[in-house]
Amino acid sequence: MTVRPYVLLSVASSIDGHIDDTSGMPLALSNEADFDRVDEVRAGCDAILVGAGTIRADDPRLLVRSPDRRAARVARGLGPTPLKVTLTGRGDLDPSARFFTLGDTGKLVYATSGAVARAAGAVGAVATVVDAGDPLDLPGVLADLAARGVRRLMVEGGGAVHTMFLSAGLFDELHLVIAPFLVGDPDAPRFLAAGAYPYGPGNPLRLAEARPLGDVVLLRYLPPPASGVPGPRTDLAWLREAVELSRRCPRSDSAFAVGAVVVAADGEVLATGHSRESSPHDHAEEAALAKIAPDDPRLAAATVYTSLEPCTTRASRPVSCTDLILAAGIPRVVLAWREPGVFTDCVGAETLREAGRTVVELPELAAEVRAVNAHLFPA
Ligand SMILES: NC(=O)c1ccc[n+]([C@@H]2O[C@H](COP(=O)([O-])OP(=O)(O)OC[C@H]3O[C@@H](n4cnc5c(N)ncnc54)[C@H](OP(=O)(O)O)[C@@H]3O)[C@@H](O)[C@H]2O)c1
Ligand SMILES: [Zn+2]
Repeated sequence: MTVRPYVLLSVASSIDGHIDDTSGMPLALSNEADFDRVDEVRAGCDAILVGAGTIRADDPRLLVRSPDRRAARVARGLGPTPLKVTLTGRGDLDPSARFFTLGDTGKLVYATSGAVARAAGAVGAVATVVDAGDPLDLPGVLADLAARGVRRLMVEGGGAVHTMFLSAGLFDELHLVIAPFLVGDPDAPRFLAAGAYPYGPGNPLRLAEARPLGDVVLLRYLPPPASGVPGPRTDLAWLREAVELSRRCPRSDSAFAVGAVVVAADGEVLATGHSRESSPHDHAEEAALAKIAPDDPRLAAATVYTSLEPCTTRASRPVSCTDLILAAGIPRVVLAWREPGVFTDCVGAETLREAGRTVVELPELAAEVRAVNAHLFPA
């Protein structure tokens, strides 16, 4: 299995599907509240990618703006602002663009083979230029980013780039912001070009959230569950969702941040949960299981995806998450990280296996879970 970053596509569009006008000036499609939301999402990513067209059209800064968020990144051992990444097939890049001049962070240019020399001549002094094949090999680019330590990638456009990621089905989350106006100009850039997308009416995206932010609305979509039973092929995708949930946990210096998703045999999400979701001692698996009726017949063939091994002893409450999973009759648990003995010694995986349950570990995501909990492991 090729490892790639978690890919989050982010775009703001007019009601009639345009992401810019033809004035030559950037078009404001967001408001302050949404800029602040985007800033927070950026701060949680390792890299931000835009196409060379966006650099030429908008000259964006692509920085984390908030000083507090920059400081929090530095405290986590990261650079103040994510790595900047672009794609080019012509190599026509301007080294004085703000993409290259601003931000105490690396700049990475993936150029098609034929454009490497031109790109290196233009921006080789201020960026790392990488040969991305001919035609550009998008899975290869993502694998290269993962090898460089990028676990979470935010893609901020423009249209050509979003079209490429969505037609390849290479994304984990789409953030679509709709501005309350229409552009109406057929020559104005569109969010997406026509194409053979795998997400027709028979295979729709899943709407995970609709969040009004003043006069704009954020629509957060997830890819459809990969077909049928959540078997080995899709375990990693479900586990990624559990890890994503763990990022919502209120911070604690005495407990892990964990996310959990309970999925039925047909791929339906029965419940999700995360640590400290509604009270300070909540565990993720407990919070999720509390949302499902104990006699729900789908539990007998369900899978619990959890970012951390289910606990076996806990200081705050008498029943452990391992006990809750056993009592619910859930036959299968997929986890990313065996609990390190920071607070208690956990034997969740062993206990579940001894009780005849299947336990699958996917250590591909363990580093990510550790990163979410980095504050518990002072250097
Ligand atoms: N509203 C929003 O959220 C938002 C966000 C970003 C951008 N925008 C708007 O989007 C417009 C720009 O969109 P766009 O579609 O022109 O630009 P783009 O998607 O940013 O960049 C397209 C360029 O990226 C390179 N590229 C992309 N895929 C490639 C591939 N498979 N192989 C090689 N090179 C590849 C090519 O660069 P070369 O041309 O150098 O070969 C291509 O011309 C602007 O009007 C901007 O304002 C809006
Ligand atoms: Zn627990």
